[in-house]
Amino acid sequence: MSLESQQHFSNWVASLPKAELHLHIDGSLQAHRLLSLARKNSIELPYSSVEEVEAAYQFENLQSFLDLYYLGASVLIDEDDFYHLMMDYLLKCKEQNIVHTEIMVEPQTYAPNGVSFATMMSGFQRAISDASEGWGQSVLLILSFLRHMSEDECIQALADAQPYKGSFVAIGLASAENGNPPKKFKRLYQMAIEQGYRATAHAGEEGPPQYIWDSLNELKVERIDHGVRCVEDEALLAHLIEQQIALTVCPLSNTKLCVFDSMQQHNVLELLEQGIAVTINSDDPAYFDGYLNENFDALHQSLALTKAQALTLIENSFKASFLTQSDKDTYLAALAAHC
Ligand code: ADE
Ligand code: ZN
Repeated sequence: MSLESQQHFSNWVASLPKAELHLHIDGSLQAHRLLSLARKNSIELPYSSVEEVEAAYQFENLQSFLDLYYLGASVLIDEDDFYHLMMDYLLKCKEQNIVHTEIMVEPQTYAPNGVSFATMMSGFQRAISDASEGWGQSVLLILSFLRHMSEDECIQALADAQPYKGSFVAIGLASAENGNPPKKFKRLYQMAIEQGYRATAHAGEEGPPQYIWDSLNELKVERIDHGVRCVEDEALLAHLIEQQIALTVCPLSNTKLCVFDSMQQHNVLELLEQGIAVTINSDDPAYFDGYLNENFDALHQSLALTKAQALTLIENSFKASFLTQSDKDTYLAALAAHC
């Protein structure tokens, strides 16, 4: 593929209004911000330059990434830190034409550092309202639980979120998948859904297809984060197609965390061609060398993603979002008008 055609595709994708449905706010902490916050808050890190931080972004699997990800999040202490973290990502959304985003927030990560729910939320909410007033950015928040913790600890975090319930559209489940099956969180999901939250969960990233079944049947989630291991189970594939259950797939994340050995081996376009409602997302863009547009570019370069396929993937994101039907229709009409 010529450089010129890559550039043409890249400019075209960049110009389209898009949605992102799978983004951990801590995964958007850029190396320069990590270092400046560590200095400001007197937190010792084993790095002293952006180059040293980025050199550490070599992962063997999910856990090797999570170790660094939680270390990174330990530099976030006061309201302003959370404002800047959120604002840095929302400015990226503006730059990349991500008109709607659904962001995972993980309060259990900050609690051990003495950060209250109020500190975190006031920083995040100030950034969101600046972006919404500034350029009409649309944002929904997902209260994401850490599955390496006990269900009781997660239920406590759900109770801590009660004063901010109106700020979250859904709950999610992240962190180490293997050994922490969906069934462990059945009561948590039942309680949250009864309280009015919608639901999603990471499943089938490193974990087996059964974790996708259990997330759907036991946790009653509406969509699946990652889900790429669904290909190992024919009946599951058929179910996902028939029910049009969306998968929030993250191609650069999957290659960085060795879920696939290379982008050429990624199955996202096979899933799309089989009729699964796949969407493209960045997961933890500061750690995986690319935001949303770079994920589309990588698929174009390595798997010859076509414009028609890219459009379907973008439409799928708006359709699978937690927006109201009327907001979905507005965004889909704007996308169609753009094309
Ligand atoms: N937390 C941040 N990124 C994650 C991922 N890819 N899988 C599970 N938990 C995560
Ligand atoms: Zn994720």
